[in-house]
Amino acid sequence: MSIQVWSYLDEYRELREDILAEVDKVFQSGRLILGDSVSNFEQSMAAWCGMRYGVGVNSGTDALFLGLKALGIREGDEVITVANTAVPTVSAIVSAGGVPRFVDIEPDTYLMDVRQLEDALTPRTRAVLPVHLYGQCVDMQPLMAFAAKHDLKVLEDCAQSTGALYQGKKAGSLGHMSAFSFYPTKLLGGYGDGGMVLSNEEAMSDKLKSLRMYGMKGIYYAEEHGYNSRLDEVQAAILALKLRYLDGWIDRRRQLANQYQSMLGDVLKLPVEAPGNRHAWYVYVARHPDRDRIIEELKKKDILLNISYPWPISIMRGYSHLGYGEGDLPVTESAAKEIFSLPMYPQLTDEDQETVCNEIRSIAG
Ligand SMILES: Cc1ncc(COP(=O)(O)O)c(C=O)c1O
Repeated sequence: MSIQVWSYLDEYRELREDILAEVDKVFQSGRLILGDSVSNFEQSMAAWCGMRYGVGVNSGTDALFLGLKALGIREGDEVITVANTAVPTVSAIVSAGGVPRFVDIEPDTYLMDVRQLEDALTPRTRAVLPVHLYGQCVDMQPLMAFAAKHDLKVLEDCAQSTGALYQGKKAGSLGHMSAFSFYPTKLLGGYGDGGMVLSNEEAMSDKLKSLRMYGMKGIYYAEEHGYNSRLDEVQAAILALKLRYLDGWIDRRRQLANQYQSMLGDVLKLPVEAPGNRHAWYVYVARHPDRDRIIEELKKKDILLNISYPWPISIMRGYSHLGYGEGDLPVTESAAKEIFSLPMYPQLTDEDQETVCNEIRSIAG
């Protein structure tokens, strides 16, 4: 049996009957789009994160895109973010008409280095998009002070950090608005695509509801140019069920992270939990100069790892028009050559984790 970096199959075996019962309830309800399952889940997800309003959309990418639209990002507006992230962070900025401006990351957490924000500021800067990558929050206190000083909007990318805490507050409650992904691998993952935008302002919530539904407020009449981006009833029902397990699953991830620490601390450079943070360990990102060989050797033993992320977005062909090149983001670029992700999901057994650690020790020890 192979050991994967992530799998949902054991979770499905545990929750199968409850999940199928939720799906059946939706199918029997007579309402398949924007019914009670979506509105109930919007309320419970927002409350769970300490926010007032949730608007379900069809992906994390759309949550970012529509969030930026609702915040008023227009053609040519600059949005400061990082290049060590999933492509959709940057794609959403470009789709919204914005121009991504990259700052480098911190060498220990691999998260946005907020000390560089001032250097990235131009007269066209309108927003900051911090990415709470890997399950841990960006240092939001100085970031929010910077945003307030320069009158910038802050949209948190929480796709990888549902349930992470920063100074006791949940990811997604720290900026002006936040975007979540329910892609299956995520900390709170659906059985298909899904996303949500959280905010504290009713007007923003109304705007997002209009944008996700062809720009309409009532029916059959567009008040503005809009889109079709709705969270599905079936996904919402499954996600509401899974939300009840999330705290326990994050506790298990934290236990696995501690075990990695004690088994591999002397072999690899291991990830750190920054002061004031409670890491949710979406992925467990280790570092070693011989990363590619380690991955190849483990593959021969049927242990399948991956890399988040092997290429900074600043050097991807798809974003060459942004004008960045090799050497512009040295910390991001050197991390991309050496980081790799170890298996991490709540149902990973201690035995499988130990097997992975023993194999890594025999290759890299
Ligand atoms: C950091 C980050 N932002 C945005 C997204 C986009 O989410 P989705 O795949 O739901 O569109 C993802 C997930 O792929 C992500 O990891």
